[in-house]
Amino acid sequence: MQAAWISEALAASLERHSKEGLSRQLMRLLRQWISDGRLAGDTLLPASRELAASLKVGRNTVLNAYEQLQAEGYLSTRHGAGTYVTGLFRQRQQTPLPARRLPLGLSARGASLFASCGLPQGLSGAFAPGVPEIRQFPHHCWQQLLSRHQRQAAPAMLNYTADGGLPALREVLAEYLQLSRSVRCRPEQILITNGAQQGLELTTRLLADPGDIAWVEEPGYAGTHAAFRGAGLSLLPAPVDAEGLAPQRVTDPRPPRLIYTTPSHQYPSGVVMSLSRRLALLQHAEQAQAWIIEDDYDSEFRYRSQPLPALQGMAPDERVIYIGTFSKVMYPGLRIGYLVVPDALIDAFRSANARLYREGQYPVQAALADFIAAGHFARHVRRMRELYRERQQVLRQALADSAAEQLALSPGEAGMHLVAGLPPGLQEQSLSQAAATQGVWLRPLARHYLATPQQHGLVLGYAGVDQHAIRHGAQVLARLLQEQGKNDEQATTSDQRLPTGTTGTV
Ligand SMILES: Cc1ncc(COP(=O)(O)O)c(C=O)c1O
Repeated sequence: MQAAWISEALAASLERHSKEGLSRQLMRLLRQWISDGRLAGDTLLPASRELAASLKVGRNTVLNAYEQLQAEGYLSTRHGAGTYVTGLFRQRQQTPLPARRLPLGLSARGASLFASCGLPQGLSGAFAPGVPEIRQFPHHCWQQLLSRHQRQAAPAMLNYTADGGLPALREVLAEYLQLSRSVRCRPEQILITNGAQQGLELTTRLLADPGDIAWVEEPGYAGTHAAFRGAGLSLLPAPVDAEGLAPQRVTDPRPPRLIYTTPSHQYPSGVVMSLSRRLALLQHAEQAQAWIIEDDYDSEFRYRSQPLPALQGMAPDERVIYIGTFSKVMYPGLRIGYLVVPDALIDAFRSANARLYREGQYPVQAALADFIAAGHFARHVRRMRELYRERQQVLRQALADSAAEQLALSPGEAGMHLVAGLPPGLQEQSLSQAAATQGVWLRPLARHYLATPQQHGLVLGYAGVDQHAIRHGAQVLARLLQEQGKNDEQATTSDQRLPTGTTGTV
């Protein structure tokens, strides 16, 4: 705790009219706070003169308390450096509290969300999926823009706002989306959100009721499963084939209210939705009176052909909510994403956004608008596209050199990860666990399935991983594949020796 907070807390706790003298109260409070760990060992206390002034007491009142606590061993002075809580107390604070099992008492939605997601883990290094190369972000230029806008921010930009995001950012974005993604929109249709995930959550709340059917791509993005579960929707897996989400293969006849899709680069398989499939999906949504949620999370990183236009631009009857994010092209901690909503929904979205989440960070949005308008954004995207293309090649080569025959790699025309399909029999979960002990992330493809996985594999993120780490990660994977192959062989041989009717576990 900082000295200023300690003064504030003491001032709030002293009782002026108590029979207990002020110096005694100070001693008691400090003793208690040190004992219960609120004041950790080595915390610097306010200087006696300053504390006396802020408590409006005589300096001797403070000095008496400090001296007594020194005599008792709670405080110590360091020559010329002030009065500290004795280092002894550090130990006590660092002792972990016994794990408490709280009765959960969650709602059905909360329980389903927690059971399916568990605790999130921080991601970095080989092969963390979805993480961009943050080290090569133009931090200097971005910092200059940020500090200029923070310094110059007019009071209105720091107040409560409900515009749906800074108008200047919505304008440059509308232009960018029209040119690069053929999204048809006016700046008014754009709503700046706290990342794509929040946009997804807001859309779900506004357009679906608990119990409604929502189609999710199978395999698909776990963040969507979370948003839909959190809203109490019934999730139906919609199979993905070589042309993308296949509406005709959904066997459940109940019409969906929401259809979530990643047509420009299916997550995680990497499939690009064909034109005929896009038309079929739009028609299906029209018949079912469903909303399509188009998540265009990483379309900037295409390495071969130009991307197909966004579904949103092909939907004449405005059944598409388009979601984008700056997490992949800037950095995830920025937490800026956006929604493009049909005209008829603008007011409802803006109002709910302001009521449920509040808006803010307009100076940061102003810096981002300038970053885009001045061409820094396009330059950074170009550089990263080149870098990620190279890294994908390095990963392909490293796997080809060490483990090629076991893995079927996804096409990788775009994006920041590859899926490495595994032959039947190899256990993705145990590969993943063994790799984690060596500091390598191998995300099992099974995590992306709602139902029983149709394919086994690993999701290998490469965008934020340097070449050295990619090669090292590939070697670890190859070694583990080899070991697992050997174990399986041994298990098969010993199985063959066992009399029928016994199991193969030893
Ligand atoms: C498919 C997909 N959509 C959306 C997001 C979320 O983006 P944001 O960081 O803006 O919430 C991610 C993040 O990994 C993603 O993979």
